[in-house]
Amino acid sequence: MPITSRSLYVYLQRPDDGEWVTVGRYLAAAHGEGYFRYAPSYVDAGLAWSIDPVNLRFVPGLDVAATRYRGLHDVLRDACPDAWGQALLRREHNLPGNAPPLQYLQAASNIDRWGALAVGASAKAPKSNLGSPAPPRLDQVVEELAALSERRPAIRAKIRSRLIQTASVGGARPKSTVQDDTLQFWLVKPGIASDVANIPLLEHVGQQWGRASGLDFAATVFHPAVGGRSAVRVLRFDRHLGRRLMCVSAASLLQAEYPDDLTQTDRWSYPRLAEELRLAGSPPEDRVELFGRMVFNAACGNDDDHVRNHAIVYRADEGRWRLAPAFDVVPNPVETPRRLHMQLSVGRFDISRDAVLADAHRFGFSGKAEAASYLDILLDRIGAGFAGTAHWLDNAWRQTLHERLTHNAAVLKGLPGVLSQE
Ligand SMILES: Nc1ncnc2c1ncn2[C@@H]1O[C@H](COP(=O)(O)OP(=O)(O)OP(=O)(O)O)[C@@H](O)[C@H]1O
Ligand SMILES: [Mg+2]
Repeated sequence: MPITSRSLYVYLQRPDDGEWVTVGRYLAAAHGEGYFRYAPSYVDAGLAWSIDPVNLRFVPGLDVAATRYRGLHDVLRDACPDAWGQALLRREHNLPGNAPPLQYLQAASNIDRWGALAVGASAKAPKSNLGSPAPPRLDQVVEELAALSERRPAIRAKIRSRLIQTASVGGARPKSTVQDDTLQFWLVKPGIASDVANIPLLEHVGQQWGRASGLDFAATVFHPAVGGRSAVRVLRFDRHLGRRLMCVSAASLLQAEYPDDLTQTDRWSYPRLAEELRLAGSPPEDRVELFGRMVFNAACGNDDDHVRNHAIVYRADEGRWRLAPAFDVVPNPVETPRRLHMQLSVGRFDISRDAVLADAHRFGFSGKAEAASYLDILLDRIGAGFAGTAHWLDNAWRQTLHERLTHNAAVLKGLPGVLSQE
């Protein structure tokens, strides 16, 4: 291993008792290489949770080289911001446009990091719960996020600096975290000036529709006018009763360098993700749930279903990784898509019955026939789910999505005379 220049300690909030421990050490070496090793103290304490079941399995004493993200391990990249947070951190810390992910990991604070990992320069883990001060009020957050995204001066300096400090959660849209009266954590995502439609409302409808169809979708609350615009609030699945839960993105599970390498389309795949769920020890129902989400995305026209919009979460009570609730499911606001972002079966991105059923066995079905009858029942549930959710929409949107659903459901049911327009 080359001579190291910098080390960073990685902390984990233990899934069992919530204590923070040093889980490992990351070394940034010359030429953009990086190595992770599980900490001897972690090993000696008899702890053995892997922080990434694919790329960083628990093997004591081994230095594991990172092969993506310019030397940063996938799960540490998961703990970094994406476009939105990166832009804030670049402005705040004067980072160059081509700053490597490691710099964002270090620039972002631990206060609001995704999942249960944190980083720092001290070999000792933080004692406390990295105690976030109570997050600010929803309306003030939305107002300030709007000002930030439009590059206007701060309305409330304290909130502005907190938003920048907590710019660690991923995604491209402005967002922040708030807590409700029961101390649950929610992501707040307001509309932005460049939106072509009421995106917060469409996201709320997407999420509610998925739930009404019997799928496991994160809970949302819609705020029609708060802080001068509409916003959707999404319950965070990586927080529970004040604790942080370990998470890994599908990008990491699929070893897809997303969004840095947009050529690796063969890795963006539902059946491959189903396989990774199985290998990570998730129960069979998670693969069926994933199949259901693929069908739902096809039916509602959510083609922003990329590999950072799926994740797994570690459930301490079960002692295993589970598919996290669906999030960021937004029917395409401009057109009815003909393809999804991830493959429905090997080499197939097209929304069609054939593509949905071709790799059915990889989702745990005994064969195409079993998957086909599940698909037909699910499409009926999605139809009923829409009927129960459409009241959120105005007439024009209700009609648009109804027509889209009718068309896509017919394509997916393989009704005669309806062809997928590939
Ligand atoms: N309910 C949730 N609980 C925990 N983490 C979440 C939740 N929803 C989103 N996240 C995390 O935050 C990131 C950004 O959220 P989200 O995908 O909703 O934002 P976005 O800006 O709309 O994303 P995109 O760039 O895909 O448009 C996700 O990639 C995921 O890591
Ligand atoms: Mg997203």
